[in-house]
Amino acid sequence: MTTSSTTGGLLNSYDIIVIGAGAIGLAIARRLAGLGAVLVVEKGATGRKASWAAAGMLTPPSEASSPDAFFRFGARSLCGYRSFVDELRDETGVDMEYRDNGLLLLASDADTLDSIRLRQEWQAREGFDTVLLSPEEVRRMEPALTLELSGALFCPSDHHVRPRLLIDALSASCVLRGVEIVEGTGVDEIVQNGGRVQGVLAGGRTLSAPVVIVAAGAWASGIRGMDPAIEMCPRKGQMLALAAPENLFDHVVRWGHRYFVPRTGGELIVGSTDEDSGFEAGVTAEGIDGLLAAAERMSARASACRVIETWSGLRPATRDRLPAIGPTALGGLFYALGHYRNGILFAPLTAEVVADLVEGRESNATEEAFSPLRFPQNRER
Ligand code: GLY
Repeated sequence: MTTSSTTGGLLNSYDIIVIGAGAIGLAIARRLAGLGAVLVVEKGATGRKASWAAAGMLTPPSEASSPDAFFRFGARSLCGYRSFVDELRDETGVDMEYRDNGLLLLASDADTLDSIRLRQEWQAREGFDTVLLSPEEVRRMEPALTLELSGALFCPSDHHVRPRLLIDALSASCVLRGVEIVEGTGVDEIVQNGGRVQGVLAGGRTLSAPVVIVAAGAWASGIRGMDPAIEMCPRKGQMLALAAPENLFDHVVRWGHRYFVPRTGGELIVGSTDEDSGFEAGVTAEGIDGLLAAAERMSARASACRVIETWSGLRPATRDRLPAIGPTALGGLFYALGHYRNGILFAPLTAEVVADLVEGRESNATEEAFSPLRFPQNRER
């Protein structure tokens, strides 16, 4: 990765500045690369925050609870995921371990089975075909499951990807396309004049640009001059990885908010907590104990595997848990924020929508519910 960790080589002016080098910021920068000098400014290291921690499940049917804007956006992004990954792999040579064998949403009691049935009905109306399975059918698909089951919903269109490799591919693509990525440089302020963005104040320097895109995740609320200001509510996710035998599980297996994601090579990801812990990251005994207890109930064989890694990340949630994607109160300033549990899934479509907006095209994927202008604006300007 040819990123720079100082501001020494920076120009004074760019055509586009993207704040944040996570999956969202990198996908946008890559998409806008042909439009002139594009800079990505990252407070820490490329992709080392929420994107690094993510499990990489691409699963609108199990994440959405109704056929709303969130579901529509996720479903559309999922439809384009294979070509997004193929193009990135052809361009960079990075295999992101994209797997398309589907997800099993488990029910271990009658109430959950009822809610799964309702889910199946509305998703079928939305064109997502899922299959209701008996406990015996589930066990034939995943013999290592030992959870007492009432049934499960099989979501064949759900896929997954390894987010850390996605970050490698996106940053390599950005570099190949001439995007400059500067790490270790936080943006303190959005600089504006007369209702238009003029650039950013970063690392004690003013970098000017007529277009600025904020994709800074949970840390966006620390940037002065954003209009509207958006209060981010970080939601900590703790995870762990087990050294499982290859193919212990074939599918992603989800039981409420607990899940197994099988990686190529056998590693089994166990997720996840969803906690309000402010900006305090880090794993806790309680969090990891909860994951291990769920893993033990789900599969005795998984539970016998060695723990090889534990980690945590802060999901970037807004107050209403919906993303803020689109134009703001300042001309030239766009947000791509608040993707909460689904940044990896939403990255390609968010990049398309932002590119359309920056280039002045109508985007048919824009969702009114995601407008940044739903948050209070600064009336004093
Ligand atoms: N998308 C899964 C999670 O956030 O845990």
